Amino acid sequence: MRKKVLQALFKSSEDIVSGVSLSEELGISRVAVWKHIKSLKANGIEINSTSKGYSLPNKDDLLFPFCFEKYQEKIHFFPSVSTTMNTAKKMARTGINDFSVVVAQNQTEGRGRLNRKWISSEGGLWFTLILKPELPPPLAYILNFAASLSLARCLNALFKIDAKVKWPNDLLIKNEKLAGLLSEMETEGDMLKFVNIGIGLNVNNNPKKDIPDSISIKNITGKHVSGRKILIKFLGIFEELYHKINNQTISHQDIILMWKENTSTIGNYVRIETFGKKFEGLAIDVDSTGALLLNTDDGQPKKIIYGDCFYKENN
Ligand code: BTN
Repeated sequence: MRKKVLQALFKSSEDIVSGVSLSEELGISRVAVWKHIKSLKANGIEINSTSKGYSLPNKDDLLFPFCFEKYQEKIHFFPSVSTTMNTAKKMARTGINDFSVVVAQNQTEGRGRLNRKWISSEGGLWFTLILKPELPPPLAYILNFAASLSLARCLNALFKIDAKVKWPNDLLIKNEKLAGLLSEMETEGDMLKFVNIGIGLNVNNNPKKDIPDSISIKNITGKHVSGRKILIKFLGIFEELYHKINNQTISHQDIILMWKENTSTIGNYVRIETFGKKFEGLAIDVDSTGALLLNTDDGQPKKIIYGDCFYKENN
């Protein structure tokens, strides 16, 4: 019933919902409504109570499954986890459906690529997609490209910004990091069991205080925006590409081509750190396997299949 009270508040078209209308809608007494509201508040949900009724001041920030329209069955929300990567891994090893999403308000041990810490300050969007595609493991790389491309398209469409993808799959605004992606997979024999793609997007947080070369949507637009609405839009864009990848109606080459239209890496002088080695040079292309092609300073062409990329003007 507590969940029903919250759901009724969320779904109401009125900003303030009276105790009487909640009690009529849910078939419980006004005292019972009040008790459920008290318990929701005790559980950390912000609800304003006035003589006119109840309201949700942070409606746009709620991440409960029932807030996700057609995706509600796919969403698994946790107020706080160590990292959505671990929660998603545990869930992926069970019979959970393909295209499930683990989203958390707070991560205490967020992880970045190359075992770095990912600071998950309040107001960001932290989630992991659980994918169970019918792909052989060597072809799974394309899902990361499809996800970062979808996120760039989603943010550019919603906020008219110019987010670019940095190889392998960060999102930047004028060389400042807006989002990072991290993927983990497990195989069984020669087939994939799952590919989990974790996405950390700076939405209403102020990441600059911890990482100077980073930025949030709020830093760019000057407005508080809804992480949930971003996630719904992203899922719509990514789902379409994902289905095309799964039923082979789009080639990997085409995804890389679309990704290249949205990247700022090609044409930049970069430093690559990969398996303890460093390379510098001009990024000239990304091939259809997702590898970065460099013209190194010693004139040697170099193909990089994994690593971290830094734009030289930033370092
Ligand atoms: C990176 O740029 O290094 C990748 C960052 C990935 C962060 C996201 S936040 C959601 C998911 N949970 C994590 O612990 N990491 C990913």
